[in-house]
Amino acid sequence: MGGAARRRLPACLAPERYSLACVGNSVIILGIETSCDETAAAVVEDGWRVLSSSVASQIELHRRFGGVVPEIASRQHVEAVNHVIEDALANSGLGLAEVDGIAVTNGPGLEGALLVGACAAKGLAVALGVPLTAAHHIEAHVYANFLERHAVLAPFLCLVVSGGHADLVLFHEHGRLELVGETRDDAPGEAFDKVARLLGLPYPGGPEIDQIAAGGNPAAIAFPRPRWEGSYDYSFSGLKTAAVRYVERLSPEELAGQLPDICASFQEAVVDVLLRNLFAAAEEYGVGSVCLGGGVAANSRLRARFYQEALARGLCAWVPPSAFCLDNAAMVAAGGYYRLAQGLESGLDFDVFSVGPLSRASL
Ligand code: KG4
Ligand code: ZN
Repeated sequence: MGGAARRRLPACLAPERYSLACVGNSVIILGIETSCDETAAAVVEDGWRVLSSSVASQIELHRRFGGVVPEIASRQHVEAVNHVIEDALANSGLGLAEVDGIAVTNGPGLEGALLVGACAAKGLAVALGVPLTAAHHIEAHVYANFLERHAVLAPFLCLVVSGGHADLVLFHEHGRLELVGETRDDAPGEAFDKVARLLGLPYPGGPEIDQIAAGGNPAAIAFPRPRWEGSYDYSFSGLKTAAVRYVERLSPEELAGQLPDICASFQEAVVDVLLRNLFAAAEEYGVGSVCLGGGVAANSRLRARFYQEALARGLCAWVPPSAFCLDNAAMVAAGGYYRLAQGLESGLDFDVFSVGPLSRASL
């Protein structure tokens, strides 16, 4: 297949002027995301203006198994990906001919699931003759902070908290993202999901615990706040185990009576641990801005305390709207825009990967 004649991205302004980069050029990026259990496509203009963002969630399919089943996820992505891309384009009011570039997540995530998005993106890039860039999922979560706003002051620290990660990312400038802390064991979303399952709550457990915690006392149970001395790394397995041990000792009646307090106390411990490292790192690196990303950043208690405590420290604080914290493709398109603006184009032979550090993003 020969593909269409090659089109180039309009020349962008210098990367250091990124807060206003490409204003007036109207560069349209189609983002595609299939790393886990959401099939997503989005159309983003100039790296920040979301023209459309379509997400087909598979949560209902995986719920009865208590977690994501990789084979089911891949098959579902195959069925959904073309429809979701068509939906995103229809909602944006644009046609394929107006797409200037394509960005797709190539890892970390479920390899079979990632392959579906990668193949769709490669096929479209060849057919349209537009540049293609492969994006790191965590980098994309950081770039959710560039959506729907005009300026982001770098350097800033972004805490990406999801079902698979607790990554503290120091954003120096586009193309220079440094991982200054990460989890040594479980991710916070994973801990939320496991504790919720034990409490008899449906998957995914994070939003369930969030909701029930609103009626509980966060100081009722003294769960541990694990730390790794001398680093900004995280650990959640001890906290998760403490919650499991606590719950296992309760009778069904006691559990029912204490449910809001258990949820509130567990959530408070997670938030304490997350914010402690974030603000300590913000001080050490002397950043003026902090932000959040990833599905757990949809947590209401984390968001509220993050804003309050950042304000008390005189820091600018930003959290993307919940829809852009959870997996979506607008964040992929935003990051992809800046990658393409810097000439970070991926060849058609790029591969997907299940685990890999942030530096893999610069393939
Ligand atoms: O970023 P994401 O959509 O997918 C991954 O890349 O993992 O994050 C999903 C995770 C799940 O573990 C889910 O329980 C958690 O985010 N989550 C929450 C909330 N909403 C989603 N955790 C706590 N509170 C919430 N409101
Ligand atoms: Zn994610």
